[in-house]
Amino acid sequence: MLAASELMTSIQRAAALISSKTRICILTGAGISAESGIPTFRDKQTGLWAQYRAEDLASPDAFARDPKMVWSWYQWRRQQVHDKTPNPAHRALAEWQQLAETRGQSFTLITQNVDDLHEQAGSQATHLHGHLWRNRCSQCATPYAMTANVEGKKDKSSLNFSEDLIHCPQCDSYIRPDIVWFGEALPVEAWAQAENAASQCDVFLSIGTSSLVYPAAGLAQLAQQNGATLIEINPNPTPNTFVDITLAEKAGLVLPTLINQLSA
Ligand code: APR
Repeated sequence: MLAASELMTSIQRAAALISSKTRICILTGAGISAESGIPTFRDKQTGLWAQYRAEDLASPDAFARDPKMVWSWYQWRRQQVHDKTPNPAHRALAEWQQLAETRGQSFTLITQNVDDLHEQAGSQATHLHGHLWRNRCSQCATPYAMTANVEGKKDKSSLNFSEDLIHCPQCDSYIRPDIVWFGEALPVEAWAQAENAASQCDVFLSIGTSSLVYPAAGLAQLAQQNGATLIEINPNPTPNTFVDITLAEKAGLVLPTLINQLSA
């Protein structure tokens, strides 16, 4: 962590740099939702699922082997997440998106998160890894609305955390969460948007991500190869050694300060 004055100087440098640019691209990860009370992926799981690693449950193989176990885990996660609300970092990004529009800057927000906290805060985000509140058939891919409406935002009136497996009304196969699991391809349109925005931006911010999971982690390098300046917000070090400005503090602290500077 940086001393307060050192951090403030770095935030001011970042704000001055961002103000001089027209195309902004932001990638968020689990760290941005940590201050809302949602554990990150590399955090050890707690409670009922403490003996499992997320990586061993979020996979097509795991679902093929034991669909009930994987479905139960997601239903448990939905239970953990359903009452969580955006924190100052999500709200600052939503404010920034509006500010950028009024200034004629292009602003693309890409997230690896499957929660809907960016949307709850009022942002529009491209989801690379799917949506916790959407389901689809594991075979025919038909969307299935149960705990959520098909837009991916949770419909609180129909929350249902039952661990019973559901069969697809079209083909009778099991319904699964509409989430990109390890080893699966990213949604084509979302990835195309992300690659476009990263390769064309002037400044790329990597926020609250360990930058370990590809292809998302490659977006920062893609941006830099195309001339963008890189800013990282993360209290912990990451493998991104090529960052121009590192703001080594929590996103909920850094982003509201950064937006204040940008609005001044
Ligand atoms: N502010 C900013 N960053 C934070 C904060 C915070 N308050 N708290 C934790 N972090 C950082 C951690 O230091 C870590 O680097 O957030 C990062 C979280 O890393 P991961 O748990 O690996 O999450 P993420 O990078 O989003 O994972 C990528 O992996 O499991 C898959 O598909 C899943 O989308 C996920 C992907």
